[in-house]
Amino acid sequence: MARITASAFTSHVPAIGAAMDLGKTQEPYWSPVFDGYQYSRQWFSENKPDVVFLVFNDHATAFSLDLIPTFAIGTGAHYKPADEGWGRRPVPAIEGHPELAAHIAQSVIQSDFDLTIVNKMDVDHGLTVPLSLICGPVDADGSWPCPVIPFAVNVVQYPVPSGRRCFELGRAIRRAIDSFEEPLNVQIWGTGGMSHQLQGPRAGLINREWDQAFLDQLINEPEALADKPHIDYVREAGSEGIELVMWLVARGAMSDVNGGKAPEVKHRFYHVPASNTAVGHLILEEKL
Ligand code: DHB
Ligand code: FE
Repeated sequence: MARITASAFTSHVPAIGAAMDLGKTQEPYWSPVFDGYQYSRQWFSENKPDVVFLVFNDHATAFSLDLIPTFAIGTGAHYKPADEGWGRRPVPAIEGHPELAAHIAQSVIQSDFDLTIVNKMDVDHGLTVPLSLICGPVDADGSWPCPVIPFAVNVVQYPVPSGRRCFELGRAIRRAIDSFEEPLNVQIWGTGGMSHQLQGPRAGLINREWDQAFLDQLINEPEALADKPHIDYVREAGSEGIELVMWLVARGAMSDVNGGKAPEVKHRFYHVPASNTAVGHLILEEKL
């Protein structure tokens, strides 16, 4: 059977992708950010999964006010990096895993979660930047180390899903993966965040203490964290801090909140600033 072996959590700041694409990673502003991912790249190369289930948000790129799915699962065979206004990032297209994605859609929808099925979409920085950060640089004519199932959560247009709903969805995704017959090694990634606000009078807001407490609670008290109301994210972590609810999908899929053992914290990193945000990153490995 397929099984989840680890979860990873990371910010997705678009300027990080630009820094990689433009060869700026060694500049003094950026090098502390990339130093925080050195361990992760090594870890990923030594623990390469068969598939990454990547929870991210679209930033009005593939979707718009015309159509706003709360949860959308990519069941396609491939996805192009999106043109967000300054050309596509020079990274490879993303290969999907239609068989596993279709199985998860079937199982999760039958567990009473409404998912939108997406067979064609371009994926923006919300998906490509986490891949670049954790997999490391990949040439545009090369390929990513493994297939990816994109799973988009609406955190852009209100109403957004609650942390509790995201966490319970993670549990349903775990049950779905556990019941897939091929013996695939699957990682689940929660991306976005941490504290940031891009517009209005509070633009530039960063809340280090709140972010660190979020990381602590995500590791040790995920069930309690799932009950944090969305207004707390917005007040404390800024309007775009709400992206952090996506981390709860990945956390809800881990063994310890489904009757198993606590994961091992393999890596924890936090850095301010990167563009307008605090960068946060965690790797949790399942224990057998
Ligand atoms: C920035 C951060 C984001 O999460 C995003 O989606 C766009 C911009 C920023 O820090 O500039
Ligand atoms: Fe974002």
